[in-house]
Amino acid sequence: MENRLCAWWFARYGARNEARGNAQLRTELLAGAAGRVLEVGVGTGLNLAHYPATVEQLIAAEPEPTMRQNAAEAAARAPVPVRIVAAFADALPVGDGSQDAVVVSGLLCSVPDPAAALADSRARQNT
Ligand SMILES: C[S@@+](CC[C@H](N)C(=O)[O-])C[C@H]1O[C@@H](n2cnc3c(N)ncnc32)[C@H](O)[C@@H]1O
Repeated sequence: MENRLCAWWFARYGARNEARGNAQLRTELLAGAAGRVLEVGVGTGLNLAHYPATVEQLIAAEPEPTMRQNAAEAAARAPVPVRIVAAFADALPVGDGSQDAVVVSGLLCSVPDPAAALADSRARQNT
């Protein structure tokens, strides 16, 4: 999957919404995250700065190469250890029940079958 235009648009204009309330929403979304966490469709990595120190290991999946490169740059500045991986929501590279939490934000409008993507993500959680 390659979509450079989308990646360019997201990097250039998507970040503007952070100052308009998105950053606060990301902090609230991630406040309870802890332990081993998987984020699906991490995009350019706008969530990464908002993970709390209670997260021990974050695996961040993103199928689009330019977005993934941007996420890798954000990961280098993140407050928690991040491993960026190339993966789609229906082929996540972690075992069932292996994660303490799975995070999605802004993803479900992009996937062909949102219910299946959620079910796949849910299966990766251990609770
Ligand atoms: C609107 S962006 C949201 C990015 C990020 N989660 C955020 O909150 O800023 C949607 C992301 O989902 C990714 N995506 C699209 N289809 C996907 C799929 N089938 N599996 C995983 N990620 C996908 C896109 O490449 C894009 O990075």
